[in-house]
Amino acid sequence: ALRALVAGTGGYLPERSLTNDELAAWKGLETSDAWIRERTGIRCRHVAAEGETASDLGLRAALAALAQAGAAVEEVDAILVATSTPDSAFPSTAARIQGKLGVTRGFAFDLAAACTGFIYALGVADALIRAGQARGVLVIGTEVYSRILDWTDRGTCVLFGDGAGAVFLRGVAAEETGGRGLLSTHMHADGRFGDILVVDGGAGSTGGTGVVRMAGREVFKHAVTKLAAAVDEALAANGLGHADVAWLVPHQANLRIIEAMGKKLHLPLERVVVTVDRHANTSAASIPLALAEATRDGRIRRGDLVLMEAIGGGLTWGATLARF
Ligand code: ACO
Repeated sequence: ALRALVAGTGGYLPERSLTNDELAAWKGLETSDAWIRERTGIRCRHVAAEGETASDLGLRAALAALAQAGAAVEEVDAILVATSTPDSAFPSTAARIQGKLGVTRGFAFDLAAACTGFIYALGVADALIRAGQARGVLVIGTEVYSRILDWTDRGTCVLFGDGAGAVFLRGVAAEETGGRGLLSTHMHADGRFGDILVVDGGAGSTGGTGVVRMAGREVFKHAVTKLAAAVDEALAANGLGHADVAWLVPHQANLRIIEAMGKKLHLPLERVVVTVDRHANTSAASIPLALAEATRDGRIRRGDLVLMEAIGGGLTWGATLARF
C-alpha cells in the first residue's frame, strides 16, 4: 500500500500589502492598528491585484511546491483545490490550474470547507493515495477573500487576506517511508452552526457573490474546544502524545486562538508557526502558506512530527498529523 509523503511545499502572496494603519485611515471604517493588533495579532495582509484570481495565486504556489519536490508536471495525477473564492462556479479552480500547468491527464476538482478546506483536502488526497487512485497529488489552498468582504464592516474586513499555499504529495510504498508521510486526518462538521460564519450569497441563492458575515464571539467559543478535541483525536489515533509534536501549524485566524491551542498542547510559542501577523486570515491557504515558510527557513526538518488544525464555516473543523 502507498503512503503520502509531503514531497514539497510552496506559497504565494500578492505583491500589495495593506497595513492596519492604512485601514485606520479609511473614512468611516473607524478602526485602529492598536485594536486590530490587540484582538487578533494582525499587522498587515496581502491583497490581490485587479484581475488576479484564485487560480493565478494557486498556480504560483503549486509551481513552488513542485520545484521544492523536484517533481515534473508529468508526475501530477490529481489536483485538489480548497477555496471559498473560486474563479467561477465551473470550470473548477483546480481544472483551471491544471490547464495553466499544462497537465493533460488525471483529474482535478475543488472542495469547499471554508477555513478547514486544506485539512479536508489533505484527508481526501491521503485517501486517494492509499487507495491507489493517484500517486502524485497537488493539494492547494487559494483565496482572494478581498473579493467577498464588506469593506465597510470593521468587524470582518480587517481579519482576512489573500494568498495561496500548496503541497505536493508523492505516494511511496509504506515500507520505504521510514514512518514519514501523512499519518491521519480527522474531519468534522456540524451544520447546525452554519449561521455564525457565512457568506450571504452565491449563484444558487441570491445570484450575487455575497460577503462574509460573522458572529465573532460565537466562533471564538467553538474554536478552542473543537480544535482541542480534534487534536487529541489525531494524537490518540496514532498512539502519540503532546510531547511528540515538533511543530504546531495551525490555521491562522487569530493569535489568541493560536496561543490557546499552544497552551493546550503544552507547546511554547517557539514551536508554533505563526504567520497571522503578516498574512491575516487567508482561510484555506493559511496552513500551506505557513508550511512553505517553515520548511524554507529550516524550522520544519525531515522527520519532524507536524500537527495541523483548522476550524471554519460550516462549521467544519479537523486536524492532520504528518511526519515530514
Ligand atoms: N476596530 C475597532 N473596533 C472594532 C472593530 C475594529 N476592526 N471590530 C469590532 N469593533 C468593535 C465592535 O463594534 C464592538 O464595539 P461596541 O462594544 O461599541 O459594540 C467592540 O469592538 C467589541 O466587538 P466584539 O466583536 O465583541 O469584539 P471581540 O473582542 O469579540 O473581537 C474578534 C472580535 C477579533 C472577531 C473576535 O471575536 C475573534 O477573534 N473571534 C474569532 C473568530 C475569528 O477569528 N474568525 C475568523 C474567521 S473564522 C476562522 O477562520 C476560524
